[in-house]
Amino acid sequence: MKKTEIKSEFVEYDSASELNSAEQNLIQEAEKAAKDAYAPYSQFKVGAAVLLADGKIICGSNQENSSYPSGLCAERVALFAASAQHPGVKISYIAITSSSQNPAAPCGACRQVIAEYETLHNYPIGILLMSSSSGKIISANGIKNFLPMMFTKKDLGK
Ligand code: THU
Repeated sequence: MKKTEIKSEFVEYDSASELNSAEQNLIQEAEKAAKDAYAPYSQFKVGAAVLLADGKIICGSNQENSSYPSGLCAERVALFAASAQHPGVKISYIAITSSSQNPAAPCGACRQVIAEYETLHNYPIGILLMSSSSGKIISANGIKNFLPMMFTKKDLGK
């Protein structure tokens, strides 16, 4: 029998002031985006800000729907907009913020989408999670920390 150990690395910060200025700025953009969330059903507003390698920032917020499954998470709104408007441009970072007591991690579907863009650009995306109520932040370098043994195009033989 062979055992495989999968390690995750997270760094926790008590406040955004411990981050560098580019990271602080991205968090602020995510915070602004959360205000525009359309979340009348859950009342849970999420904001996401994607930093591209060319310095552009693309934001998104969760968009809900009376037919619940038709809604979309903030992360995917931002990532799909970034890729649609700036195809081929590498994604460096994503900052995600919500009012949950502790920094909320992206849902499974959003992890899979982050994995897709990492694979496409062969580059780990910096992930910053912030709780706007506590101010706490969790940082990770790459989606593998949240999604070990991920499914990628390699599994399709591509
Ligand atoms: N939500 C996000 O926007 N991102 C996540 O990663 C988790 C959940 C949204 C979806 C829905 O609008 C609300 O939060 C409650 O689940």
